[in-house]
Amino acid sequence: RSGDNQPAGVALAGDYWRPEGRPDPLSEKGRIGIGAPLSRVDGAEKVTGGARFAGEFIFDGMVYAALVYSAIANGRILAIDRREAEAMDGVVLVMTHENAPRLNTPPVFLRSPNGAAGDDHPIMQTDRVHWNGQPVALVLAETQEQADAAAESIRVDYAAEPAMIDFELAKAQARQPDNVLGGPAEITVGDADAAFEAAVHRIDATYTTPRHNHNAIEPHALTLAWVNESEGEGETLRIHDASQCVDLAVASLAEVFGIDAAQIHITSPFVGGGFGGKTLWQHQILAAAAAKLADRPVRLALSRKGVYRVVGGRACTEQRMALGADENGRLQALIHSGVAAMTRHNNLPEPFFQATKCLYAADHIRLSIDVADMHMLANTFMRAPGESVSTFALESALDELADQLSMDPLELRARNEPERDPTSGLAFSSRHLLEAARSGAERFGWSERSATPGRRREGEWQIGLGCATATYPYMRMPGAAARITLTPDGATVGIAAHEMGMGTATVQTQVAAARLGLPVEKVAFHYGDSRLTGSVLAGGSQQTAAIGGAVIAAQRALVAELLALVGQDSPLSGLAPDEIECRNEGLGAIGDGSRFESYRQILARAGRSELSVEADAAGSEELANWSMHSFGTIFCEAGVNGVTGEVRIRRLLGSFDCGRILNPKTATSQFRGGMIMGLGLALMEETLFDPRSGRVMNPSLADYHVPVQMDVPEIEVMWTDIPDPHTPMGAHGIGEIGITGVGAAVANAVYNACGKRVRDLPITLDKLL
Ligand code: MOS
Repeated sequence: RSGDNQPAGVALAGDYWRPEGRPDPLSEKGRIGIGAPLSRVDGAEKVTGGARFAGEFIFDGMVYAALVYSAIANGRILAIDRREAEAMDGVVLVMTHENAPRLNTPPVFLRSPNGAAGDDHPIMQTDRVHWNGQPVALVLAETQEQADAAAESIRVDYAAEPAMIDFELAKAQARQPDNVLGGPAEITVGDADAAFEAAVHRIDATYTTPRHNHNAIEPHALTLAWVNESEGEGETLRIHDASQCVDLAVASLAEVFGIDAAQIHITSPFVGGGFGGKTLWQHQILAAAAAKLADRPVRLALSRKGVYRVVGGRACTEQRMALGADENGRLQALIHSGVAAMTRHNNLPEPFFQATKCLYAADHIRLSIDVADMHMLANTFMRAPGESVSTFALESALDELADQLSMDPLELRARNEPERDPTSGLAFSSRHLLEAARSGAERFGWSERSATPGRRREGEWQIGLGCATATYPYMRMPGAAARITLTPDGATVGIAAHEMGMGTATVQTQVAAARLGLPVEKVAFHYGDSRLTGSVLAGGSQQTAAIGGAVIAAQRALVAELLALVGQDSPLSGLAPDEIECRNEGLGAIGDGSRFESYRQILARAGRSELSVEADAAGSEELANWSMHSFGTIFCEAGVNGVTGEVRIRRLLGSFDCGRILNPKTATSQFRGGMIMGLGLALMEETLFDPRSGRVMNPSLADYHVPVQMDVPEIEVMWTDIPDPHTPMGAHGIGEIGITGVGAAVANAVYNACGKRVRDLPITLDKLL
């Protein structure tokens, strides 16, 4: 595949597929604007090893950290014998609750405006143990091997207390949470229970999904030091972290250490994947505390096992779907309720009714989420929290209803396409789900599907087709701001945003270049630094729109400032900012090719070497006025081996409706990556707890399975490319929608193949025999 950035004439066959009638960005010869498949601006640095990740920075005098994890799920530490460890070669410090510096409890995400932390347990401040795997000691040593060996030697005596580690028992004491993502935990429209009882066609089934752990290719790591950056300024906590929230992490750490946020500086230029888990957990806080205590810079790189002990994942759920429909398949009752595991110390009930809020029309709807408190590591965000498992239950149940009605599953969905958001009553800002479903079905060959399961065989293999709807909300959080610095040679755009591998740096270079009328080579996008302006979370698939809004605001401010600089002699003299566009490396009058002045000329005339402006993005009013979501349909062809029960996915296609696609190359990767994670959710991923101790028993990629190359079939991706008129650039985020719908598409294909309905993820072979 070509690695250069010249779209004209470069063959990208198979990279992405364009629906009939849509313009081809490749045909716009020589132009690399929005919509062009620009290759990654950081690609060469990454593949040649030039990119430095958080665990690869070096400070003079740096020591290495290792953590000791608790072996009980609830109770007290009676004694920690650290003498042997302290006497070992190279050991610099053994820190436990007895000698750790005083630390404030970290603010929790969504509960506090400064919250970047997964939970609000005190960190190494008391003898209490809250989950099996909690850090109880930290060792610093001159080498990583010395630190690891010393950590291994530490003996801890506990007084264990009864722990709630069985979801079945915890469910019996389930409670309604205060909120679900800041909204109510129960949503009702009409009387769904009565409507369900009265319906002619009914499906009432329970779907279960297991715990999932984060497995980014780069395990969590950081390198930090307390440094004196300049005379008399006091100490700065300088952190190289792998983060999807540099700004929020600074705010949280300032609270934990009781220092000014200006004394903390986090950079995170390269992140080896972040899916909701690269936030603030105990390891960063403990590393900073130990560095302070030992007066040495520290590197802490969690092992894969360490990530399972201290970084939360997705909670398990048990979901009831009750669908009532009339003879024509129109939904009369839609009930989606159930329980998710949680802890008292975090604020994320896995929001499994999310997809059901907006997908289908029904006169009567009841959605509710209860939580079951457990002694476990706090659960957290994990790619499409809510929608990933929500769509498994909802879209499996719809397939079951279609079967009962002897109706094509796509036809059943089309019949229930809502005119307005069924729970909020708002109009949709942009919804072309049916178009995505139709073009996807055509491309995939959906019409070849047999309505009766078990009809297609190839030797031992039974083959089936399934589909499911994908959805994820559009979001744009407040706080985004951008700085543009213009020089005669180009522009630098700075914003405290993140590149975790999804292509942000590339796409935002394109967006800024298009906005400023500059070639991409003359635009540098700076990000991943808490000292840059604005606060943008790489989460909720909202970064693209949030940055876009800020860049547009800054570009407008730049135009206004430049106009103020032009003199009487300028061809632009007398024009208002609204009459101006950025083009050809300068400003021009809209609709008048003759009135133009280059940036170079404007700056030179004004005697300026550069011009720098900063602007806040406007608030996200669009969300108050519209129901805003991305949509898609996932199609799957699965083979089920009649002898072994093994499932192999043979084909997968995602047809999406996510507004305007800014870069088809990086977008294709995002969609495909999400869909591959969806295959893991469907077929493999499951965190297993020891029922006696609550300890995670499969904390490694050898035991916790994710899809590898041989598990991943041909994946086709396509999209409507219809801009949403109510978002910056007409775009939606696309980071999370790819994983949604895949669980059900696979389950439905498996049912179509062999007639077995699996309602319990993952769909492993034992469930098919
Ligand atoms: Mo995503 S779970 O919002 O990083």
